[in-house]
Amino acid sequence: MKKINRIGITRAAIGISGLLAAFPAPPAAMAADGRALFEKNCSACHSVMPPPKSAPPITPIASRYRQAFATRQEGVAHMVAFLKSPSKEKMVADRQALERFGLMPPMQLGDRELRAVAEWVWEQGGTGGWGPGSGRGSCQGGGPRRP
Ligand code: HEC
Repeated sequence: MKKINRIGITRAAIGISGLLAAFPAPPAAMAADGRALFEKNCSACHSVMPPPKSAPPITPIASRYRQAFATRQEGVAHMVAFLKSPSKEKMVADRQALERFGLMPPMQLGDRELRAVAEWVWEQGGTGGWGPGSGRGSCQGGGPRRP
């Protein structure tokens, strides 16, 4: 009987470690997701750092959101609402952007994608980074791979 019990316990242990391996750390996965979504859906108009393309760069926008909202949760929620249907009233960042670039078109993305990309944008305001070299070499996936 004892033998059978042991085997049972070993099985359970393997089962648990298997489960853990199946769920990789969510924050890293989210960040990568948000960045990929940005590259695909936003980077045609938005650069991350100045100079601007056809829209204000992301870093100063993210800094404004951080000033305007007490928590990341509120900031991200507002940004998602803006991305769904941009309007002058919802604008938090630079209102002059409207005259310079026009209103942003609504994004045709699902809620999950909008959240992921908004969270990624919010993170870009955290470095305080206008200093030389900021925005480069942030160790995303190792090694220089420039086109
Ligand atoms: C077709 C060009 C275009 C695309 C694509 C685009 N944007 Fe914009 N975006 C703009 C312009 C222009 C503005 C400035 C005017 C405004 O706020 O509507 C802006 C403003 C913003 C703002 C500031 C809003 C505020 O509160 O003042 C955020 C945040 C933003 N964009 C995020 C995104 C994200 C995230 C994506 C991709 C999912 C994206 N944009 C895709 C053109 C674009």
